[in-house]
Amino acid sequence: MDQTPATLAPDAPTLPILIAPHPMLRAKARAIVPADARPVAELVPRMLATMYAAPGIGLAAPQVGVGLRLVVLDLQPEGERRPRVLLNPELIAASRESEPREEGCLSLPNQYADVVRPLAVTVRYQDLAGTRHQIQAEGLLARCLQHEIDHLDGVLFVDHLSALRRNMIMRKLAKEQRGE
Ligand code: NI
Repeated sequence: MDQTPATLAPDAPTLPILIAPHPMLRAKARAIVPADARPVAELVPRMLATMYAAPGIGLAAPQVGVGLRLVVLDLQPEGERRPRVLLNPELIAASRESEPREEGCLSLPNQYADVVRPLAVTVRYQDLAGTRHQIQAEGLLARCLQHEIDHLDGVLFVDHLSALRRNMIMRKLAKEQRGE
């Protein structure tokens, strides 16, 4: 996947990560068009720096207050860096089999829950040069892609849980954010 020098810039300034229930996290992001090339090229290194600093394995643009369909991932943030940058990612197929797996989110710090999702997915996206790609993913990558694409539609992992469990997590998060 995409690994231009710009996307690897480790010293880009970080951005503040929005914490739920910030309304921006609930908005549907818009597709990236060619006119967005420059702002996107400037944003990507900052999103990667923010993700690595957190540390996290994925970050979607709405989490830093930008309503564009842009996702960065790196499944091994502590080891050799392998950043992936996806513009306009789309879930085009998902396996019938699903499994529960624990998820967290940089916008819901310290909150974790088992989320049931398809085991394998096919995702179509564009790289920074606008070239179209399609990947088949399973395991952690499939999980992470689904979680991040959800962010582009204003969906958080807690939305896949029961209302009871979701409310418990949101209350706990609010309490922790108030410093209680
Ligand atoms: Ni997240």
